Amino acid sequence: MARLAVDPAFAVGALDRRLFGSFVEHMGRCVYTGIYEPDHPAADADGFRTDVLELVRELGVTAVRYPGGNFVSNYDWEDGVGPKDDRPRKLDLAWRAVEPNQFGTDEFVAWSKQAGVEPIWAVNLGTRGIKEAVELLSYCNLPPGTELPDRRVANGAKEPHDIRVWCLGNEMDGPWQIGHKTADEYARLAEETANAMRRVDPGLELVVCGSSNAHMPTFGEWERTVLERTYDLVDHLSLHAYFELKGDDRASFLGSAEEMDRFIASVVATADHVKALKRSDKEITLSFDEWNVWYQQHFPGELGLDVREVSPLIEDTYTVDDAVVVGSLLITLLRHADRVKIACLAQLVNVISPIRTEPGGRAWRQTIFHPFALTAKYAGSTVLRTEISGPDVETPAYGRIPALWSTATYEESTGEVALFVVNRSETDEIELEVPLRALGPLELTEHLGLYDDDRAAANTADEPDRVVPRPVGGTGIDNGICRATLPPASWHMIRLS
Ligand code: AHR
Repeated sequence: MARLAVDPAFAVGALDRRLFGSFVEHMGRCVYTGIYEPDHPAADADGFRTDVLELVRELGVTAVRYPGGNFVSNYDWEDGVGPKDDRPRKLDLAWRAVEPNQFGTDEFVAWSKQAGVEPIWAVNLGTRGIKEAVELLSYCNLPPGTELPDRRVANGAKEPHDIRVWCLGNEMDGPWQIGHKTADEYARLAEETANAMRRVDPGLELVVCGSSNAHMPTFGEWERTVLERTYDLVDHLSLHAYFELKGDDRASFLGSAEEMDRFIASVVATADHVKALKRSDKEITLSFDEWNVWYQQHFPGELGLDVREVSPLIEDTYTVDDAVVVGSLLITLLRHADRVKIACLAQLVNVISPIRTEPGGRAWRQTIFHPFALTAKYAGSTVLRTEISGPDVETPAYGRIPALWSTATYEESTGEVALFVVNRSETDEIELEVPLRALGPLELTEHLGLYDDDRAAANTADEPDRVVPRPVGGTGIDNGICRATLPPASWHMIRLS
C-alpha cells in the first residue's frame, strides 16, 4: 500500500510547455524518408510527409531542436538554402553520411509551421564560429534591407523566421564532437558568440552547452567554467542523458529516473554556485535538450570508413519497459519544472524516436509515443509537489529507491488535476491511495495505464497498436480518497475533475 499526498498549496511552479519538445537531426532517416520524402504518396507540395505531420501533432510536441546534434558541428548552413538544384552534396563527418542538402533552414521553418511547433536552432561552434552564427541569425531573424535577410526573401521567405531560442553548439565537451573543445576554449567562444548574437537580436534566449552526460570526466567543472564566463549572456544551460537496460539489470533500468533526477539536482547546484560567486540575482534555467532511452550497446560508435547514403541509423524498437521508463523520465522533468524550461525527446522520427516510418510506406507510433502524448496533452499549467509514502525497491545502480515515482499537475483554466505515477517494482502490484480533500470536490475522469504481461512487447508496422495505453479497472473515489491498483512495471495517468 502507498499513499500519495498532493496539495495545491505546494506547487513546484508553472509548467513551461517547451518541456514537451523533441529533436530533428540530419542523422540516419530522421529528415530524409522521415519528415521529408517528396516521392512519398502522402507528401505535400513541399515534400513533407503528411502522415508523419499528423503523428507529430498527435504526439503534442511543442518545440523542436534542429539541425543537430553532432551533425551541426560540421554543418555549413549556407549549403541548405536557395534553389535545390544548386545545393551541394557534402560529406557529413559526424555520421559519415552524404548530406544531399535538399532540406535546410527554410524547409525546417516551413515544416515547423505545419507541425505547430517552435523551432529551436543550434549553431555550429565546432568547425565554425562567431561570424557564421551571426550570419545564420541575420538570415533568419532580420527584416529585409541588408544582404543576408535579402537572401532569405529571395529564397521565398519575406517575413523573418523570428527564431527565439538558439543553442550555442552541441556537446562541445565530447571528444567525439567535430571541433571538440576544452571548457576554457568553449567558454570563450560561447561568450563571444552570445555577445555578437545579442547585437543582432537582443531578445533571444540562448542555451549554452553543459555536459553531454553526468559520466563525463569534466562534468561539474565544465559547467562552472562555462557559466563563469557566460552567466550574464545566456538563459539556459543544456544537459543530455540517454538510458538503457544494462545486462539484465531491469530494476536499475526501471529506476533510470533516479539518475536523471540526481543529474538535474547537480546541474542546478552548480549553476547556483556560480550565481553565488557572481553575487547575481539572475537564475540560470535548464534545457534538457536531448533525453531518451537509447540502446547504445547496439551502436558500434565507430562508423567505419564506408560513406553511407541516406540509410537507417540507431532505429531502436521500443518495448513496454522502455515506455514505462520514458514516462518516468517525463515525471522527473515535471518535478523540476521550476528549473527545467526546455526538454527535447531525442529524436522525433526513426532515429531513437517515438515515430517510425518505412521509406515510401507506413508510419507508426512506438510504445514511447504514448506516455509522451498523454502527458503533453493532459499536464496542466501548474506542477504540484507530490510526496509518496510506500514501499521501496532495491536497485544495483541507485540503491533503495521508492517503488512509486510521481508528479501531479493542476490546470488553472478548468480545475482539472492530473496524476502521473510509475510503479517501478518488477514484482509487486501496489495499492495506491490519494487523499483528495485539499484539492476540493473531484471526480474520476479516467485512469489509463501502460503495462503488459510481456514487458518486451513492441509496436511494429504490421502490428502498430500491439502496445497502447488502456483503461485501468477498479479505480474510484470513496469518501474523498482516490484508490487505484498499479500493476508491476507500469505507467499511469489518473485524471480528476
Ligand atoms: O541523438 C543522437 C546523438 O546523441 C546526437 O547527435 C548527439 O548530440 C548525442 O550524442
